[in-house]
Amino acid sequence: MSQEKYYISTPIYYPSSNLHIGHTYCTVMADAMARFKRLQGYDVMFLTGTDEHGQKIQKIADEHGTTPQAYVDEVVGGIKELWKTMEISYDDFIRTTEERHVRRVQEIFKKMYEKGDIYKGEYEGWYCTPCEAFWTETQVTDGLCPDCGRPVEKAKEEAYFFRLSKYQDRLIELFETNPEFLQPESRRNEMLSFCRQGLEDLCISRSSFDWGIPVPIDEKHVIYVWLDALSNYITALGYPDDPEKYDRYWPADVHLVGKEIVRFHSIIWPAMLMSIELPLPKQVLGHGWILLEGGKMSKSRGNIVDPVKLIERYGVDALKYFLLREYTFGQDGLYTNEVMLNRINSDLANDLGNLVSRTASMIEKYNGGIVPGAGSEEGPDAELKALALATAGKVSAHMDQFSFSLALEDIWTLVRRTNKYIDETSPWILAKNEEDKGRLNTVLHNLAESLRIISVLIYPFMHTTSTKIRKQMGLWFADPQWADAGVFDVMDGEQVKKGDAIFPRLDIEKELEELEAMQGGAPQKEYAPMKPEIQYEDFDKIDLRVGEIIKAEKHPKADKLLVFQVKMGNETRQIISGVAASFKPEECVGRKVIIVANLAPRKLRGLESKGMLLFADNGDKLEFVSTEAPDGETVS
Ligand code: ME8
Repeated sequence: MSQEKYYISTPIYYPSSNLHIGHTYCTVMADAMARFKRLQGYDVMFLTGTDEHGQKIQKIADEHGTTPQAYVDEVVGGIKELWKTMEISYDDFIRTTEERHVRRVQEIFKKMYEKGDIYKGEYEGWYCTPCEAFWTETQVTDGLCPDCGRPVEKAKEEAYFFRLSKYQDRLIELFETNPEFLQPESRRNEMLSFCRQGLEDLCISRSSFDWGIPVPIDEKHVIYVWLDALSNYITALGYPDDPEKYDRYWPADVHLVGKEIVRFHSIIWPAMLMSIELPLPKQVLGHGWILLEGGKMSKSRGNIVDPVKLIERYGVDALKYFLLREYTFGQDGLYTNEVMLNRINSDLANDLGNLVSRTASMIEKYNGGIVPGAGSEEGPDAELKALALATAGKVSAHMDQFSFSLALEDIWTLVRRTNKYIDETSPWILAKNEEDKGRLNTVLHNLAESLRIISVLIYPFMHTTSTKIRKQMGLWFADPQWADAGVFDVMDGEQVKKGDAIFPRLDIEKELEELEAMQGGAPQKEYAPMKPEIQYEDFDKIDLRVGEIIKAEKHPKADKLLVFQVKMGNETRQIISGVAASFKPEECVGRKVIIVANLAPRKLRGLESKGMLLFADNGDKLEFVSTEAPDGETVS
């Protein structure tokens, strides 16, 4: 097989609940790239799948009163259905509960063990259940997970460790000598300084729950979900026992991942590969998040935009176009219904939709539906032709950088230029005089050619729309090739048949109202998820008291912390809170507060804190929870 290969992957998603538009974003980008490369003649391997093990899934299944396997089977069914609706052209879908994956992950673990890179020890650390991540003392601030900001818990267990520290120097060298390996640049710098601070060995087994792949040398333990999940990129290729696809496609050309999981993909995954002596992926690309006005969309917070609802109303291609055009790769972007609707109306219904319907109807009306051959070049012809021929090169250059938005912007420059060409040449006036027939034919020909090139250029991003245009233009007989966008003057005699509008115009006001009603009408604000239910006895253990702040100052060693002296009846105690971003010390003195008074004392950056103060969260700022009761009194 001499054809050049291209291997691209998405992350494998947690099937904790249905996916939202954020996950769709990553998969749509990977799909567009896979289709682009196929169009250019590459032999593409596009992998996606689901990451089904771990404590989080086990917990959710328990909450639903079902087994983890039954739970994930149902959610994964929905995910596959979503990708079918979205016409995602993946070549393989790997589930980490599949036998092929389980067996191969155990092989990978054994290889790392035999290499001497895995040893048994005891783990004590801060564990964030939603992220399935252990954190060290230095990474955790105020008892909160550095990734998701939720509370972490102290956890200790006998466990197996991977000698990640052994690979620190090679990882630093990788980031220093191969800047392309991790992009964008800001992520590379972040990871480089993370490595330079010193990598600790990684705990890679768990024994506190059993929903995972058993450690092959000690079945009391299951393999850490990230070691299990990251391996998918090679187990899906048959590594190690069925190497045909592995030999063909590995190393991956690109792992496309969200910015918060770059660390796993650019440090842990390469170190695992170094341990089993395999080549590294060529590139890890970290994309930004799609945010709602209240912050990040999240399955566990329940503030999500459902792609299926949008597709039902506007079609797959409108959603794909919006996601790829609106957001800049590597940066976060805000989602609002209004921005989406405006994009669809202006770019798709107006610019592209009008061009297609005007071109097809003029060829029908003025030349019996037949694309005429070209006559001599005049006026704006040369400029249109030059732009049409130059666009494929620009699109390719942007796609090399994963700049989907710029690629589409260049295609739309051509769409708009072609619309302008219609206005400049006024075919309806030419049609009035028989002596202008030659000129009219040239204009119609150039329009058909430009639209043909546009249909090729948009194919990776919105292939259904491309096919609709090609059918109307009499080009139904063959799928496009990328090279077709590099030639002009190839159409002569095609039978054009105008069809329905490819993107009907939307009444934005009406759509906004209906979308809001559909999405619950509420502003898309993010509230913290409810913690699991507790019993009266649990709450009764907490002693809440009224206190008065009599002194407040900044913590000498931590910017985020304030050190309070709080009078509580007959005693005054020191309590430290992470509230420096919300209050100046002087504005706190004299304020009444509610204290969790019987909380075990804890040291925060060297100073003891005895108890906790309660505050209410007012978006980006905290507020005092006020009371007029005297200090020392109980709160119940
Ligand atoms: O992290 N905008 O799975 P996951 C953009 N199982 N991207 C978003 C997003 C948003 N609002 N919300 C989520 C996992 N994503 C692991 C991966 S890979 C070996 C294991 C993206 O389901 C997020 O950035 O929590 C991440 O890349 C992907 O969805 C999967 O998230």
